[in-house]
Amino acid sequence: MAISKPQRVIVLGSTGSIGRTALEVVRDFSHAFTVVALSTHRNVEILARQAAEFRPEAVCVSHAPSAARFRGVLPGDLETLEGEEGPTRLVEHYDADVLVVATVGFAGLFPTLAGIDRGMRIALANKEVLVVAGEIVMERAHRRGVEIVPIDSEHNAIWQCLAGNDRRAVRRLILTASGGPLRGWPASRLETVTPAEALKHPTWRMGRKITIDCATMMNKGLEVIEACHLFGVAPERVEVVVHPQSTIHSMVEFVDGSILAQMGRTNMYLPILNALTSPERFENKFEPLDLAAVGRLDFARPDDENFPCLGYAYEAIRRGGTMPAALNAANEEAVAAFLGEKIPFTGIAETIRAAMDAHDAVEHPDLETLREADRQARAFARKHAGIAA
Ligand SMILES: NC(=O)c1ccc[n+]([C@@H]2O[C@H](COP(=O)([O-])OP(=O)(O)OC[C@H]3O[C@@H](n4cnc5c(N)ncnc54)[C@H](OP(=O)(O)O)[C@@H]3O)[C@@H](O)[C@H]2O)c1
Repeated sequence: MAISKPQRVIVLGSTGSIGRTALEVVRDFSHAFTVVALSTHRNVEILARQAAEFRPEAVCVSHAPSAARFRGVLPGDLETLEGEEGPTRLVEHYDADVLVVATVGFAGLFPTLAGIDRGMRIALANKEVLVVAGEIVMERAHRRGVEIVPIDSEHNAIWQCLAGNDRRAVRRLILTASGGPLRGWPASRLETVTPAEALKHPTWRMGRKITIDCATMMNKGLEVIEACHLFGVAPERVEVVVHPQSTIHSMVEFVDGSILAQMGRTNMYLPILNALTSPERFENKFEPLDLAAVGRLDFARPDDENFPCLGYAYEAIRRGGTMPAALNAANEEAVAAFLGEKIPFTGIAETIRAAMDAHDAVEHPDLETLREADRQARAFARKHAGIAA
């Protein structure tokens, strides 16, 4: 995509960590991008400020009860969609070149499919979309000739390493993991981890759900599934290595034994900028990475015993069908239960294990079957976690 005229951009989840950073990129390169539409779930105050600054044609508040607070805050000529279906309708009704999917969880699936149908470039942060329905999404994107460019720093790194190389010559994809805030903690201490402790990520500043996913290593599990779909490789050819400095964002090993690594600051601005501009590269406001200050790069194997969620994700993608959707749904509910102090930290993995054991996977599911698998696994996980439906 060569940027000759300003790209029209829709940002879904604009009030979140990735969404706000995407708008920072748009602000810094206002000659290259113009905002068409924005969406939030509940955060109407931030959305109102963003709308005042970026002057989109429409906005959406997907949590309908929160939309009432929005009315009257903005000029009446700004179209405001409300409710769960709002983000999809926004994508269906407004023309854009690029759709930034920065929502979280299952919610991003239908708007992403709508963006593909409309031929928009998809800048995808919302990894759960590929975890739940990777086959359907990738097949539709290939058929429509649409590019799905990952924002997730690991996948964006792999995307960059693969550029110009023969994909048939890839031996392994190597995803790096910081190990999260609880790396090295003894098993006896994990039982009593508080949400505040689990939210203290050592290298990245992110939304709450993904930060807890990092603490359990489920984030890396979701990324393994995401990588299998995005790059068309089997799970055996995706390896995870713990790299506490988070300086190498991920690597690709080729059949001749060469490993290409992409390095950079631990800063989501850069992969977002890349996803919006590649194959062009934009000079930006950040200082070059000071390698001497980084000093050393360490690598270690993940601790599968204390953090079993990574293994659960490998199991889910190998079993296939609706199993990754069940894993994802159980994880979303278990993380919410942990953040709400309903279950202990170790209860997250226990809930996911139980939900997977109870799930009868359906092969080659359609969207309706995936939605039903999601619903059932959520209901199971909530019951398991002792939360009323
Ligand atoms: N943050 C990172 O550095 C990072 C890095 C790599 C990948 N990712 C992935 O990017 C996605 C976004 O992460 P994040 O950290 O930016 O999350 P976040 O800060 O929680 O933001 C999520 C955004 O989605 C909206 N949202 C929440 N629930 C929704 C729903 N049911 N329907 C529609 N919109 C909803 C939120 O609205 P409210 O503001 O009202 O809650 C917010 O705008 C996740 O899939 C994450 O795994 C994030």
